[in-house]
Amino acid sequence: MIAAFNIVSFLFLLLPVSVLAHGYVGSVTIDGKVYQGNVPGGTANPSVIRQVSTIDPVKGATNPSLNCGMNATMASDVANANPGSQILVSWVGGATGDSEWPHNVGPIMHYMTQCSGSCSSFDSTSAEWFKISELGLETSDTWYQANLDVGQPANVTIPSNIEPGNYLLRSEIISLQLATSVGGAEFYPACIQLTIGGSGTGAPQSNEVCQFPGGYSDTDPGIYTPNIYNPPITYTFPGPPVAGFVNGSSSSGSGSGTTSSPAATGSPTPSMGTCYSSFLYTPPHVT
Ligand SMILES: *[C@@H]1O[C@H](CO)[C@@H](O)[C@H](O)[C@H]1NC(C)=O
Ligand SMILES: *[C@@H]1O[C@H](CO)[C@@H](O)[C@H](O)[C@H]1NC(C)=O
Ligand SMILES: *[C@@H]1O[C@H](CO)[C@@H](O)[C@H](O)[C@H]1NC(C)=O
Repeated sequence: MIAAFNIVSFLFLLLPVSVLAHGYVGSVTIDGKVYQGNVPGGTANPSVIRQVSTIDPVKGATNPSLNCGMNATMASDVANANPGSQILVSWVGGATGDSEWPHNVGPIMHYMTQCSGSCSSFDSTSAEWFKISELGLETSDTWYQANLDVGQPANVTIPSNIEPGNYLLRSEIISLQLATSVGGAEFYPACIQLTIGGSGTGAPQSNEVCQFPGGYSDTDPGIYTPNIYNPPITYTFPGPPVAGFVNGSSSSGSGSGTTSSPAATGSPTPSMGTCYSSFLYTPPHVT
């Protein structure tokens, strides 16, 4: 009896550990103002952060939840921001966000897309996203993502010349600790609803945008990473390059600019620029 009880209590002790192994965006801070997120699958309080259904990762580059996180639902509020606004995205761990982000290998990337109408009612399924930042290795063998493990937020700056409008900010962590196998990468996307003021003119070129799913393949060099634990690591970011206007190098409308070669391999199509077309993918499988 005592032995059986001990085994049962041992299993109970083990279970929460696996639940704690993932996480979500607990809050965002925009120019010093804090906006709370909702617990995954919990009560949907007013927020600017689209709520996800679980702390578990999105698996597979063709998963529809690659768009804004697992089964994400639109949020009721929109936050004001401006060109140059400093945004801190607080990724937290555990079912209720009471622990720190648990992963430390892989990139942190931020994308944006313009909402038609308010972002609180914008279906981003077919949205064209552009990348505004990508952070990978901070030293030869440590990743910026490891800073989240010690309670630091992810940092991103709204491009200083972005044209005003309604935008979703897509904060994405990819955790690569299992990505030595195809399909092992863990995607954690999250979408934050913004209205951006100012009088900028910056916008991406048509070959700098992609859809999610659509922008990644499970075999991209930065998603399937068999040598991630064999230094020296050279990391290739997936998705399109950071949009040229982000660094002030171009703005929309000229159509004359050329961009550097894409980070991801594959067969770019004229309509999708650097991104994959979703019809090129094999259908997602459920395990
Ligand atoms: C996501 O939504 C689908 C369809 O409603 C459902 O079958 C699935 O269980 C949900 N997944 C999670 C993790 O909540
Ligand atoms: C902007 O340009 C600088 C200098 O060329 C470069 O180091 C930096 O990575 C660029 N930033 C982005 C977001 O591409
Ligand atoms: C964000 O910036 C703060 C302050 O510079 C820094 O401590 C933290 O590590 C940064 N976050 C990441 C994920 O690098």
